[in-house]
Amino acid sequence: MKILLTALACLFPTIGIMAENKIISVDTDKTSMVMQVNPDGKLIHDYYGKKFNGIEPFLIKQYKEQPDNGAGYAPMAYPAYGGLVSIQPALKLTHKDGVQTTDLRYDSHKVTQIDDNREKTEIVLTDPLYDIKVILDYTAYKKEDIITESVTVLNNETGKIAVENIAASYLPLHADDYYLTHFNGIWAAEMQLKEDKLTPGIKSIESKKGLQTTAASNPAFMVSLNQPLNENNGEVYAGALAWSGNFKNTFEIDECDRLHIVAGPNDFASTYYLEPGESLTTPEMIWAYSNTGSGTASRNFHDWVRNYNIAHPEEERAIVLNSWEGAYFDFNEKTITDMIDDAAAIGVEMFVLDDGWFGNGEYARNSDHAGLGDWQVNTEKLPKGIDYLAKYAKNKGLKFGIWIEPEMVNPQSELAQAHPEWIVKSGKRDKIEMRNQLVLDLSNPEVQDFIVTTFDNVLKQSPDISYVKWDANRYISDFGSEYLPEDKQSHFWIDYINGLYAVCDRIREMYPDVTIQLCSSGGARLDMGALKYHDEFWTSDNTNAMDRIFIQYSTNLFYPSLATAAHVSTAPNHQTGLIAPLKFRFDVASSGRLGLELQPKDLKGKEREFAENAIKTYKQIRPIVHHGDLYRLKNPYDGKGWASHQYVSKDKSKAVFFAYSLKYHGRTTYFDTKLQGLDPDKNYRITELNPQGWNKFYGDGQVFPGDYLMNAGISLNIGNPMESTVLLLEEI
Ligand code: DGJ
Repeated sequence: MKILLTALACLFPTIGIMAENKIISVDTDKTSMVMQVNPDGKLIHDYYGKKFNGIEPFLIKQYKEQPDNGAGYAPMAYPAYGGLVSIQPALKLTHKDGVQTTDLRYDSHKVTQIDDNREKTEIVLTDPLYDIKVILDYTAYKKEDIITESVTVLNNETGKIAVENIAASYLPLHADDYYLTHFNGIWAAEMQLKEDKLTPGIKSIESKKGLQTTAASNPAFMVSLNQPLNENNGEVYAGALAWSGNFKNTFEIDECDRLHIVAGPNDFASTYYLEPGESLTTPEMIWAYSNTGSGTASRNFHDWVRNYNIAHPEEERAIVLNSWEGAYFDFNEKTITDMIDDAAAIGVEMFVLDDGWFGNGEYARNSDHAGLGDWQVNTEKLPKGIDYLAKYAKNKGLKFGIWIEPEMVNPQSELAQAHPEWIVKSGKRDKIEMRNQLVLDLSNPEVQDFIVTTFDNVLKQSPDISYVKWDANRYISDFGSEYLPEDKQSHFWIDYINGLYAVCDRIREMYPDVTIQLCSSGGARLDMGALKYHDEFWTSDNTNAMDRIFIQYSTNLFYPSLATAAHVSTAPNHQTGLIAPLKFRFDVASSGRLGLELQPKDLKGKEREFAENAIKTYKQIRPIVHHGDLYRLKNPYDGKGWASHQYVSKDKSKAVFFAYSLKYHGRTTYFDTKLQGLDPDKNYRITELNPQGWNKFYGDGQVFPGDYLMNAGISLNIGNPMESTVLLLEEI
């Protein structure tokens, strides 16, 4: 961050710099976000893009006129409704006296070096007529080329103010055309990639579900300038809101063809009242800029997540057998110990006991109709308790994990009878069940305590529980809280998520070492806000390898592979009926955090042998998949019927390559591709992994220069649907 004051004017005598202009620049190694204070004290957004030498030239472009934000001359860095602002504002307040407008002027700023890699810039804005402060808080992550922003509004007026809309960030862009890549989906088809050319007006990507906020849309997106998103070229702005609740990211093209991006919590039914002295802080918006396409922005996000926004990034994730698709609710002790035996025999490292282990008597969890909330082991199914199973797994060399869904309650439970006041509901209206369950009101500190205690008690069942799968299987409808006062019901959406984060903070404090999986009916809660408390996420309940190729491709644009739980399930697939070869299922799952989601005793003969070998192979490539750089070579969404990508170790000494055929291509059509990210001067020996069938790669066991592989490329004979190739490249 640099600040240049009037003194610099003498260095540029011919350009007549105005005395008041200041430049504030938030810099990473390769990008800069530049703001300027104009003579009347408004904070103007100047630039976000490639970093270049010196910011002095920004002083030449003086902003003498009033910024107007509607017509593109000088957009403010954080437009509040008031003055000439006619776009979707980043901030809208009602002041104590009922006045609806806010006029933000630069007050001061401060730069703090957090460490070698991080620099914080705090800019304070005030209103000349009203005693409020708006603080823009930026953090530059130098080597990851990531800039985050959050915003705080502080009420120092003599009475209550109403915050009707507060964005975490605002970004104006100016180009001929804008292409928005975003994610849309539904249960078992999450994160479907969509790309739209934006047209004048507003496009809003949002959620009002409070929970399961990412089943339909995700708060991460990419905007590509002047051309559709390309992996390797073009200017791309990638943004992700770190918020697990209602969000709203708007993309507005104004009458001057400028694009205004406003990203933050959804303002829907969310007016937040601040008493004198109170403040409200938004979640963080995370930004990356790339002029070399989406690949760079995506790798920057992966590095940032692995360095700052996930639990235990350095740990290699264990290979899991999860009990859900193999047993559902229908198990007893023997079912589980048999599964553990079979899992141990093929090299699995962690057994996770999914739903169905708790609730007793009439509330036994034998289906999704009862038991949620009653977190005591079901003594009929598991008479020896959880510790017995955890120890059993330990003796077989496996770690042990357990499923919980602590935010929820079945009406058929002791908890629902004991605490009806803890349940989210809209006044006297009937409560609406979804999957036969209701949501607990996390805006209530008593409920927060209950969830922390639940987590603690579940883990206290055995010192050998090292993994928790945290699920959430419905969204919030018909909201309302018995805890919040009548005039603050609109605080619910924000207080719920802040309550959830407070719970996560406490749990992480108590159990720093436990692996926690983020799950919500599959991938219905996948965002940077929740991810930071977790080690990984359950990507989708759809374990069909063909569909997973699409889901994992778009998920991994932002969220890294070490956290992407990908499980091999049985054939025919339980969700779609697809019968896919076991090799294809393993080759797809091995490109994330490999696991199994089946009854392992069903793997017999050659299949069992193959599975055992593929698990061994995965252990070999796991460090590259988890910690390497991801290069996408072929986009499954392009309709050509192939998908391919590659992970390259940071020192470029190793890489692992994946290619999949999604349809029949004709007898003599080969998949030709050039590799990426290798060292052109290194020589790599290629080994084909999990080979099977007739179409063996001609280069298996051969040595190729990196230069050759990246320019001439390779050809693969995988023209039939569900054929796949995995190659390991090792420097010799
Ligand atoms: C939804 C999850 O996504 C599944 O993996 C499983 O845990 C079920 N819930 C259990 O109810």
